Amino acid sequence: MHADPIFIGLDVGTSSCKALAVDADARLLGSAAAEYPCAAPQPGWSEQDPADWWAGAQTALRQLTDGLDATRIAGVGLSGQMHGMVALGAQQQPLRPAILWNDQRTAAQCEEITRVAGGAEALLRLTNNPMLTGFTGGKILWFRANEPELFAQTQKIINPKDYIRLLLTGGLATDASDASGTGLFDVANGCWSADLLQRLALPESLFAPVLESTAVAGQITPAAAHLTGLPAGVPVVAGGGDAVLSAVGMGLGSETQVAVTLGTSGVVARHCNTFFANDGAKLQFSRACLPGLYHVMGVTLAAAGSYQWHEAVFGDRRLATRKERYKALDAEAALSPPGANGVLFLPYLSGERCPVNDPAAKGGFHGLTAQTARGDLNRAVLEGVAFSLRQVYALMATATGAAERLVLAGGGAVSPLWRQIMADVFALPVVTLEAGEEGSGFGAAMVAALGLGYFESPQAAAAKLRVKTETFPRPEFHAVCAQQYERYCALYPALKG
Ligand code: XUL
Repeated sequence: MHADPIFIGLDVGTSSCKALAVDADARLLGSAAAEYPCAAPQPGWSEQDPADWWAGAQTALRQLTDGLDATRIAGVGLSGQMHGMVALGAQQQPLRPAILWNDQRTAAQCEEITRVAGGAEALLRLTNNPMLTGFTGGKILWFRANEPELFAQTQKIINPKDYIRLLLTGGLATDASDASGTGLFDVANGCWSADLLQRLALPESLFAPVLESTAVAGQITPAAAHLTGLPAGVPVVAGGGDAVLSAVGMGLGSETQVAVTLGTSGVVARHCNTFFANDGAKLQFSRACLPGLYHVMGVTLAAAGSYQWHEAVFGDRRLATRKERYKALDAEAALSPPGANGVLFLPYLSGERCPVNDPAAKGGFHGLTAQTARGDLNRAVLEGVAFSLRQVYALMATATGAAERLVLAGGGAVSPLWRQIMADVFALPVVTLEAGEEGSGFGAAMVAALGLGYFESPQAAAAKLRVKTETFPRPEFHAVCAQQYERYCALYPALKG
């Protein structure tokens, strides 16, 4: 054991690879990031070159370790964008670009998997998940049907962070949270669903061994040490999917809170100590990144992404930076009262996953009048995203009970106005944490520290989390928020009909 250890969290994200370092007190010591592109070879498709992740990981880690006393590095935790399909050939080389979580090409394959499983109910009994277009399962069937020569050469299919693990440690492994996100994993029993794989004629050998997130999956090789600045021999824990690890970093297994990440997509997540059936197949159910726990979540695809779009269309170009433009939009939104003078916004700019599972869903404003001001539109976007997230929370609250507080993270959490809107719409106190802006890399570093025995328990780790801001719901706006939420809930079904 190191006397003064440092834990590294590495997140293989969609827009960049982020590396950060925390100490045993969960204090951030430094961070670095390297961006890479995302390709859309056809509308609705989304792909990345795994070589870009590796180049990004090297750049970020090298920059981070340059500023640290590397001899203190005690462990590494990996986080990654979930669901992406990386197909490896005989030399463990990627055979094609990775197909990502936000790729929508697999609607037909998802239907096929559901049919082959014996219907939606039968699929739920096997995996406790629906087969969403984002999930890896449909991508594998698409790959087999459309690129049969490449599929025939495929030895293994893994998720993005597991490819970086392979290059860091030389070992093939995945963890139970990412395995859950393939849609082929029996979450209740913690193993690949042999029944489903057999029905789909996919051999279990196509997948990597599944470890607990906190388990040591390998050590940094001398070659990787040379490229990254991480010392050779440092243990790398299995880590987990980014959406699951973010929630870990926001509470480390606390059952009494709901964790919401207002990133490009919005994730509503809760830890559960016990398994429950995902009735209605609306939520994503997975193993958590802490042994023995479960994680339930629902994803609104365009959360802060909706405000990014709004800024691109309505932001004041005379202001030099995006930050200033967001501030100006927020200031105008604050002039509009809760309820946005009747304006509603549906955030389905990228289709939707939850609670509406419809890749073809479209966004929109509703309730405009000749009096509608830009501030009403701005507020409606922030409220619309909050309503969508609240719908996701409502789906899980029946099974998991009401939460006592909402922990908010992600880019959107820096806006005091959005925090207040979240508190009013959820009728819950909203807190942000000091490490909240660090996202899933922080969770990955905490899971590494926990797995390597530097924290006695998840509770001991959770005691290190420090509250940064606290925002309370305002009772005087409860009725108007509840009424607007009801109108919001009725809008999409009415439009779809
Ligand atoms: C989770 C999900 C996204 C990706 C992107 O189910 O699809 O959060 O992991 O990072």
